[in-house]
Amino acid sequence: MTKIEKIVLSYSGGLDTSIILKWLQETYGCEVVTFTADLGQGEELEPARAKAEMSGVKDIRIVDLCEEFVRDFVFPMLRANAPYEGQYLLGSSIARPLIAKHLVGIAREVGADAVAHGATGKGNDQIRFELAVNALDPSIRVIAPWRQWNIRSRMQLLEYAEKHRIPVPSNKRGEAPFSIDANLLHTSTEGKVLENPAEVAPDHVYQRTVDPIDAPDAPEIITIGFERGDPVSVNGKAMTPAALLTELNGLGGRHGVGRLDLVENRFIGMKSRGIYETPGGTILLAAHRGIESITLDRAAAHLKDEIMPRYAELIYNGFWFAPERDMLQALIDHSQAFVSGEVTLRLYKGSASVISRASPCSLYSADLVTFEESAIAFDHHDAEGFIRLNGLRLRSWAARNGR
Ligand code: ARG
Repeated sequence: MTKIEKIVLSYSGGLDTSIILKWLQETYGCEVVTFTADLGQGEELEPARAKAEMSGVKDIRIVDLCEEFVRDFVFPMLRANAPYEGQYLLGSSIARPLIAKHLVGIAREVGADAVAHGATGKGNDQIRFELAVNALDPSIRVIAPWRQWNIRSRMQLLEYAEKHRIPVPSNKRGEAPFSIDANLLHTSTEGKVLENPAEVAPDHVYQRTVDPIDAPDAPEIITIGFERGDPVSVNGKAMTPAALLTELNGLGGRHGVGRLDLVENRFIGMKSRGIYETPGGTILLAAHRGIESITLDRAAAHLKDEIMPRYAELIYNGFWFAPERDMLQALIDHSQAFVSGEVTLRLYKGSASVISRASPCSLYSADLVTFEESAIAFDHHDAEGFIRLNGLRLRSWAARNGR
């Protein structure tokens, strides 16, 4: 093991990363800098400072990344309309490259030769952190204590905490009921009571949305403004990216929008069952498709839809900072030049439905599509030839088959 001089740890202040902090200090005998990212997880972060101080950390970083997260990661991804395996809006996947970017930035600033994270050896998150670090600065080493230490169970983890006088919150003594990852885009819950996919998830796993059954009986109508593919206003009020997503999370949460119970395929190889709540993201996906429906050319829209699963898989697998993601992003961003206008949606008992859309750059022509008489020249006879030529090969094929 080559000597490590200084480590930047991605630190939440929770039990796991508190133990990791101690373990790093003991194992490497070097300075550890802690980095706590505020991604809008809705948790008080100052206690993390106090805990790090208590463990003798001199350099403590707590950074508000909410605007950067939504502006530079969530919105670019939403331009692609990109759920993984058709449903998962990638709330954890898209946060990891941002955290890694700041870990690397701080490591360079303080002259650290390694970064460390608390992701376990079975999950996707370790891959996302480490691929991002590889892509951003190959000279920085990554330490993943969960893959290195001898702690194999929750019991041993608590014993280690006890031995080193790391305070264990009383609710952590018994089994925590599940594992949570939250940020402005979503809350994800996995493990423990959720591990049997044949069992219905208990009601208390849901953190930020009401059960659609208990949602208000009155629907709520909202309007979202878009400029060049990105949402910029809610009900006519201009908002920063993080403020806008926060507003939609509130509205969606109240109406039970964006719940998902999913068995997904992890990159590492196994299937896992998770509960996701993505209220604002679910509204934005519907709204974005709504504004694209009138502003994108058919072939452009279909090409986007073709590359979308590939793009979503790249993000899920941790290749945000990879050349092929950049290439796809350039294509997606280029398509958004005229994706501007307003979409109105109805939120009602778990659903977010587009009910109208309008754009100064619309390609929709009522005059062209109308069943009534129209001023626009459209020769119905052209359709006859169009169908005759498209049917040519079908007639040959059917004749050969003896029909
Ligand atoms: N399975 C999700 C993903 O890979 C979430 C991972 C983190 N969530 C958690 N509850 N620990 O993106």
